[in-house]
Amino acid sequence: MEKKVMILTGAGQIGMAIARRMGYGMKIVVGDKRLENAEMIAGIMNAAGYDVIPMEMDLSSRKSIQSLIEEAQKYGPVTMLVNAAGVSPSQAPVEAILKVDLYGTAVLLEEVGRIIAPGGVGVTISSQSGHRMAQLTAEQDEQLACTPAEELLGLELLRPENIRDTLHAYQLAKRCNEKRVMAEAVKWGRRGARINSISPGIIVTPLAMDEFNGPRGEFYKNMFANCPAGRPGTADEVANVAELLMGGKGAFITGADFLIDGGATASYFYGPLRPGREV
Ligand SMILES: NC(=O)c1ccc[n+]([C@@H]2O[C@H](COP(=O)([O-])OP(=O)(O)OC[C@H]3O[C@@H](n4cnc5c(N)ncnc54)[C@H](O)[C@@H]3O)[C@@H](O)[C@H]2O)c1
Repeated sequence: MEKKVMILTGAGQIGMAIARRMGYGMKIVVGDKRLENAEMIAGIMNAAGYDVIPMEMDLSSRKSIQSLIEEAQKYGPVTMLVNAAGVSPSQAPVEAILKVDLYGTAVLLEEVGRIIAPGGVGVTISSQSGHRMAQLTAEQDEQLACTPAEELLGLELLRPENIRDTLHAYQLAKRCNEKRVMAEAVKWGRRGARINSISPGIIVTPLAMDEFNGPRGEFYKNMFANCPAGRPGTADEVANVAELLMGGKGAFITGADFLIDGGATASYFYGPLRPGREV
């Protein structure tokens, strides 16, 4: 029997939380670079009554993205996209962060935007890091939004000599995600579909654990301890936002980004987390 299909990229905690919230009754095709992660999540979800197919895929490869989409379309119309694949500043070098988080996300939004069913909806997970970086110029923002995906990594702003470290690369990638979502929303709209991004703060997942145990561990622990919420967030709270954006109550929301960070960004600009004022 044909079912509506959700494409989930990134078999991590955030991806699974959103898939569980939105994917019941659907065929969920989950792609991850680490097949064992996709299989693990498929196992957990199938045991809980979902219908999940795991696949190996690499977000940094257009070919791999196209294969995932092709596989997904065999089961029915693709009506949902959840992109929760990514690497963090402590997990990967600058080139990999740009290739996966920036270029890969741009390609995925473009490729799914070509086939998304009318009424379809997507979310991509960006990050508070994109909000924390200083403003770019209007011209740079437009370049991130509209440059053809294959030319993105050739932009002056993304040249290796202009990137300080992995955190800077990650911030640029996440800023690019937000801009890409705006430009893609225009194209998705022509198909009657919507696309938004969610920018989480610190959410307890294996990726965040790598940050806590990485070179910026103390910085991150201080961040959640001293943000207005006083704690890190959970993947299920990110799914709360996705549920609004992907459901009928979000019908007027597209091309937008939603910050869910316990107030850490607010405190970074105007409170005790401001650099130089750390508590
Ligand atoms: N956890 C946080 O605190 C936090 C905060 C802000 C943003 N994010 C973003 O949320 C997204 C999901 O992260 P998470 O915290 O759920 O992490 P996670 O480690 O639980 O999941 C990430 C998944 O992405 C997969 N992945 C990595 N590179 C890939 C590639 N090239 N192709 C396909 N899959 C790949 C990993 O194998 C992993 O299964 C990421 O984009 C991350 O940047 C996370």
